[in-house]
Amino acid sequence: MMSNIALVGFMGTGKTSVGLALSEKLGNTFIEVDALIAERAGKSISEIFCEDGEAIFREMEKQTIAEVSQKSGVVISCGGGAILDPQNVASLRRNSVIVLLTASLEEIVQRVARNVDTRPLLNASNLEGRVRELFGTRQPFYLSAADYVVDTSGLEPNEVADSIIDCVTEET
Ligand code: S3P
Repeated sequence: MMSNIALVGFMGTGKTSVGLALSEKLGNTFIEVDALIAERAGKSISEIFCEDGEAIFREMEKQTIAEVSQKSGVVISCGGGAILDPQNVASLRRNSVIVLLTASLEEIVQRVARNVDTRPLLNASNLEGRVRELFGTRQPFYLSAADYVVDTSGLEPNEVADSIIDCVTEET
């Protein structure tokens, strides 16, 4: 069975744009977990956080990841908090190579500052402080879930996609 490639990593590390570029290069279907959740809920991720709460969002995320993990030969982009739940990591591990995208803190801050409104967890007066705090607590989870780590700093999505293909070629 052909493995999936699951992209994980902090908000603003390029999971969506890299996932799109990667799926185009591989000719594989691209599944963005957050987009699927929003489509099914009929509202945006911010609205789910605001109206239903983060716990409900995390349940939806868990179910969606369990479901899409059963596919094969797809590129899956996970929300930045997905791998904090060991069940999500276990779901992904069954049939996916897990690729962690990273970027420098400066670049993450620059990227997320462009669309803070779509990211309820970054709704803070001190954006840089909030990113630093979340990044620090999450980094060990990201690293322990990852089969490969790819730094996206200063790179275009196409270039990152090529690096990922180089990394995983022998596995897929
Ligand atoms: C989250 C990241 C978001 C989205 C939700 C929670 C997180 O996805 O799932 O706002 O906990 O880091 P992106 O990483 O695609 O922004």
